[in-house]
Amino acid sequence: MSAIVKAIRIHSHGGPEVLRWEDVEIAPPGPGEARVRHTAIALNFSDINIRRGGFYQKDPLPMPLIPGNEAAGVVTSVGEGVRDVKPGDRVGYVGVGAGFFAKTGAYALERNVPATRLVHLPDGVADIEAAAMMLKGLTASNIVNKIYRPAPGDHVLIHAAASGVGLILTQWCAHFGAVVIGTVGNAEKARVAREHGAAHTILYRETDFVPAVKAIVPQGVRAVLDGVGKDTFEKSMDCAAPFATLVNYGNASGHVPPIDIMQLSLKGTLSMWRPGVSHFLGDPERFKTLCAELFDLVQKGVLRNLAARTYPLAEAARAHADAERALFAGPVVLLP
Ligand SMILES: NC(=O)c1ccc[n+]([C@@H]2O[C@H](COP(=O)([O-])OP(=O)(O)OC[C@H]3O[C@@H](n4cnc5c(N)ncnc54)[C@H](OP(=O)(O)O)[C@@H]3O)[C@@H](O)[C@H]2O)c1
Repeated sequence: MSAIVKAIRIHSHGGPEVLRWEDVEIAPPGPGEARVRHTAIALNFSDINIRRGGFYQKDPLPMPLIPGNEAAGVVTSVGEGVRDVKPGDRVGYVGVGAGFFAKTGAYALERNVPATRLVHLPDGVADIEAAAMMLKGLTASNIVNKIYRPAPGDHVLIHAAASGVGLILTQWCAHFGAVVIGTVGNAEKARVAREHGAAHTILYRETDFVPAVKAIVPQGVRAVLDGVGKDTFEKSMDCAAPFATLVNYGNASGHVPPIDIMQLSLKGTLSMWRPGVSHFLGDPERFKTLCAELFDLVQKGVLRNLAARTYPLAEAARAHADAERALFAGPVVLLP
């Protein structure tokens, strides 16, 4: 039987005020689907970009639209042919298949999800923690497992080190023995970044980070991990040691302007990456393997204090407004 549940929807792109708390109808789970009652829903920066509009979308998204790609919850019923999960299972998911940014819908009390996209949450990983760290952790995993893994003693510059992804990268790189230099927007974020393993912090809104980094490591850093984008990426080349790796994984301040490839030679034979997690989320088994690694790191205490700043789901507009103003450190989770 169909059910009516509360959800946050947008009817047009715009500011946080377009997020509305409404009734929506959901069908019973179809073949291969599970109905999940959400207990914790991630706020990701991509949700803000989807809400604003124009984010990697060639075609307009169908409206009204329920934002959100990531949540944790409990399976309440399953459709035909589902064997991997059963009612009562504690689960999480990131995206529901191809078309990551088109197939949103997590900002709702309940949702039908293809069962193959669900990962079981182990004991020792709370629902809020899972929602706070799956996508952000997979973003960090993509970097440290596929692009650049710090060697002990490597200096690594992490921009917005106290952000959702930044705190995971900071902890993970420090775990590998890297000397993390974190840029941060305010003194409280500096404290949080240091508490999570940053050896140095730079208040990059009031201090030019290039000379500040060079004062710490005159030969330059081995890698730059940057989710800020427009305001930081190009300048970061001047912080890099020869043969360093520059990773732009996000655009919180806007897209990085086009870069002349010759700059990679002139600034010291640099390599540059622009990863995106949605590519490897297409394979459910790979998703589960990578989540298992993340959950293991949480259980071992390598990734810690991931319990996020929370807001009621109904107040998603306030959560978006605060995130856009970059007021607070760490990830944000919406609670149904
Ligand atoms: N490549 C991928 O697959 C992938 C996956 C996940 C996330 N991302 C992207 O990675 C970026 C960071 O994600 P996150 O979850 O860490 O985000 P977040 O927790 O919301 O943090 C973003 C941080 O960026 C800094 N910032 C600088 N300029 C900003 C501006 N104009 N507006 C807002 N924030 C600004 C702020 O830190 P300070 O105050 O310290 O400056 C802010 O806290 C986003 O662009 C996101 O879309 C990419």
